[in-house]
Amino acid sequence: MRRSYDANNDKMKLANVSSLPEGLEVQFSDNTDPLLYSWFWLRDHGVDSDSLDPDTLQRKVNTFAIPSDLAPRNIDVDQSRTLIHIDWVDGSSTSMSVDVLSGVEGRTPQPHELVPYKGCNVWDSESPLNDMPTVAFPKVMSCEKSLLEWLENIASYGFSIVDEVPSSDQETDSLAERLGPVQQTLFGRMWHLSAELVDHGDSAYSTQYLEPHTDGTYYHDAPGLQMFNCQEFDGKGGESVLVDGFAIARRMQRDDPEAYETLCEIRVPGHYLEPGVHVRGERPVFQLNDSQQVQQVSFNNYDRAPMRLPPDQEQKFYRAYSLFHEYANDQKNWIKIPLRPGKTLIFDNWRVLHGRMGYVGKRVFYGCYHSRATFESRLRTLQHNQKLDIS
Ligand SMILES: [Fe+2]
Repeated sequence: MRRSYDANNDKMKLANVSSLPEGLEVQFSDNTDPLLYSWFWLRDHGVDSDSLDPDTLQRKVNTFAIPSDLAPRNIDVDQSRTLIHIDWVDGSSTSMSVDVLSGVEGRTPQPHELVPYKGCNVWDSESPLNDMPTVAFPKVMSCEKSLLEWLENIASYGFSIVDEVPSSDQETDSLAERLGPVQQTLFGRMWHLSAELVDHGDSAYSTQYLEPHTDGTYYHDAPGLQMFNCQEFDGKGGESVLVDGFAIARRMQRDDPEAYETLCEIRVPGHYLEPGVHVRGERPVFQLNDSQQVQQVSFNNYDRAPMRLPPDQEQKFYRAYSLFHEYANDQKNWIKIPLRPGKTLIFDNWRVLHGRMGYVGKRVFYGCYHSRATFESRLRTLQHNQKLDIS
């Protein structure tokens, strides 16, 4: 399949280009300020088939052989005003597209950006959800549009329910694989979860109330998504509990900035031990991206490993950590879902905390994890395909 950089951007054009000693000054058709791109950068980012493999988008140009004093001999803008051809004094040439020039500057959506069609809907007692994001298994399995709706639910709300899911392992596997390859962990590829099982000594394999938490705080690459299908239920209680970690971050940042910053800074270790296994990872409760936005929430007091902080830091940490715990355990911020056979729940483990009410009786779940990278990849390609269908 031929890949393309230009599906997101069919409107931006080149208004004007000017050759300057230090590089090419580009004015876009949106009349924003002109930008300067160095000659070296332009040679390194060429989109012609000698610079970039058209099928894989892997770089072919030898970055390390580009002369530092590279200079242009001739510059042409094509008729569509979307492509620039540069002939260099050393006899080589480069083509450069307006999509790459504007995309890397954030002037137009970049191909790797995820654009949830409903935006990021953060929910808690202040902004309750009116409807449960839900899709139907037969549609997800047969229709790419419904599959995209499922994934965009997860991107927007942090979770989604799938209805009409058969209780068999095989059909649950199919649903998981429909999203992408599952993430293997020490719990295996797909796992059954029930108090009757003694596969692992984890609190999840019990009937007790489980406080809201995220999974895999002890992994460097915590699972991106967690999915489980309720295969059997015969008892009372056991509702699944979800809390939006982004909402907790938003509220703490607003109401108690010092506590928020403490949870952005102090790295909290997690560990998991059983015979032959000792995994350990650590990161702050709120991990920020380069734009200072929360990109991952990690909170699991069950799995927290011993940690020691200077006295003033320790005091700040316990205060902030307790405040997080208070928000997370305030039932007004919860969504409670009584999962019964036929229903599958999937949620973003980098955003939404999950818990479980205590129960009596029999409850069997069958589930798996997906990595964050797998989820983003599937969402990105489906969104890309949909744009191509519309255009
Ligand atoms: Fe869990």
